[in-house]
Amino acid sequence: MSLRQTHGAEIDAILARYPHKRSAILAVLYISQDHYGQLTDAAIREVAEILDTNPTDVFEVVGFYTLLYDDKVGKVVLQVCDDVPCAFCGAEELVGTLESKLGIKSEETTADGLFTLQRVKCLAACNRAPLLQANLDYYGELNTPEKVDELLTLLRTRIANNDNISISGRKAFL
Ligand code: FES
Repeated sequence: MSLRQTHGAEIDAILARYPHKRSAILAVLYISQDHYGQLTDAAIREVAEILDTNPTDVFEVVGFYTLLYDDKVGKVVLQVCDDVPCAFCGAEELVGTLESKLGIKSEETTADGLFTLQRVKCLAACNRAPLLQANLDYYGELNTPEKVDELLTLLRTRIANNDNISISGRKAFL
């Protein structure tokens, strides 16, 4: 089913906020990304059609923003901050623990399709180091393997219950 068929009302509500459809590009891309799980070429062209704009413009936006995924990612994208303050507080250990518990390396996705692990720079919450964001939710002070276990259990429960799982964190727009 097309994005219009599945999310028509939500898209119309977003488009109504802007004088030009093109201004809604990020919000509509977030819906598409959550719906398809990644922004394929076809998905990007569909968004361009909804916005009555040139597909090249949409491809450029997708290529620019790191929270827009043209590769397949897991249901939850774990982005660990490895910038200096987090590094001093155990970011490397956190990445190592996640790699060990998930059985993947950074930039990989678990075989069950649940988690993608990435490294990012400062998430502007240095007081909670070491920190990661899971989709757009922040989890800080992850300085022991036990806390990482608790977090993964929580996230697995949320995934199983389909509890606000959005790789785009698009609830922020609603
Ligand atoms: S350095 Fe990690 S949140 Fe700022």
